[in-house]
Amino acid sequence: MAFRLNRVLLNIGMAILTIALSLGWASLTHPNFAADPLYADAQTLVSFGARVAGSPNVERASEFLINEYRKAGYQVEVQTFNYPKFFDLGSKLIVNQTSIEALAMVRSISGNLSGKLVAVPNFGKPEDFQAVNMKGAIALVKRGGGLQFNQKIDNAVAAGAIGIVIVNNQPENVRGMLMEASPIPAIAISGKDGDSLFEQAQKTELRATLTVQTRPDAIGRNVIAHLPNVKQPKLIIGGHYDSVENSPGANDNASGTAVLLGLARQLAKSPEAQQIWFMAFDGEEDGLKGSEAFVNQAGSKFLANLKGMINFDMVGVNSRLLIDGSGALSAIAKSTSGDVRSSRFGGSDHISFGMREVPTLFFFRGKDPNYHSPGDKIVDPRLLRETQQKAYKIVSQLLK
Ligand code: BES
Ligand code: ZN
Repeated sequence: MAFRLNRVLLNIGMAILTIALSLGWASLTHPNFAADPLYADAQTLVSFGARVAGSPNVERASEFLINEYRKAGYQVEVQTFNYPKFFDLGSKLIVNQTSIEALAMVRSISGNLSGKLVAVPNFGKPEDFQAVNMKGAIALVKRGGGLQFNQKIDNAVAAGAIGIVIVNNQPENVRGMLMEASPIPAIAISGKDGDSLFEQAQKTELRATLTVQTRPDAIGRNVIAHLPNVKQPKLIIGGHYDSVENSPGANDNASGTAVLLGLARQLAKSPEAQQIWFMAFDGEEDGLKGSEAFVNQAGSKFLANLKGMINFDMVGVNSRLLIDGSGALSAIAKSTSGDVRSSRFGGSDHISFGMREVPTLFFFRGKDPNYHSPGDKIVDPRLLRETQQKAYKIVSQLLK
């Protein structure tokens, strides 16, 4: 009997442990986390899905942030900027009324065309195109054979093709990348679909419709919040709110975006806020595009008047808070927070400011096993709060 009771207790213990692990320890130590504004903000950002710069999701995230900053009493500006970035807005191939999954090749032009689908022998050298009648037709060409995609496209255009379908050399499909823009619509299909299509096209005449819808640039949007009439801040506090494709970007970087917003709320009524701009950067994942656009437009006088820039990126996972510092900010942060290093870990938006001689502090928590993956959907509310508290102390010290 005692043995059975022990077993029951053990099972209950294991069940609690499993639930605790699946919910995250935070739910046990902080049972009211649903009411935690930092955690709720991070969750809201995650709920929009991957916040890829230039996508509708990131626009919705920007609207959420604008609204929250306004509610906290700030004036908000959106700084837009453009940069080259390829989008596939929906591309398809229909052969004899059957739809085949297709991916537009990066740098393909848009187009909607119909014609004969002609299988090109071998791998699409000029002489391979000579062996078939390509005039006004869509070329079906295998990947590989030592020829670049662009060479195959050039040869297809020279032979009179109006579009090109590349068959991958693996059963699945890939997003092909062209070195130069394609003058005719170019798509890729999987080896599995392509090989059977190839056989059919050699036997009978196939008609295909090719639709490629692409966009060659992205519009990024930085969200800038400050109290009315603050034209020249002493301090910029920032973090990027965009994320990579296929990742909800909880730690990278809904975490930093939430801490930034939390600090803005905490400071809203304080004299320090008269000296701060809060900035949620877009396009960070495409190479620090948002912060780069900002420093490029800011002018050297504006930047020279800054005491510094503080950046938060990936502060919701790993218990140890790390601070990298440069210039005069390092010393001040050291006096309040102890260990401030200068390791230049991770590329993030403070780098754009550092390159313009603005002293920076970078708050982060190191490597995350879910970095840039669909699994990046967990943040620990306690870690967000701790980051905000430590940053608040440093900011108060800095602007004293
Ligand atoms: N959040 C990362 C940088 C990072 C990594 C911070 C690990 C803290 C810990 C950032 O969004 C990123 O992925 N940066 C790129 C470079 C950027 C210029 C595209 C990187 O670090 O590779
Ligand atoms: Zn990041």
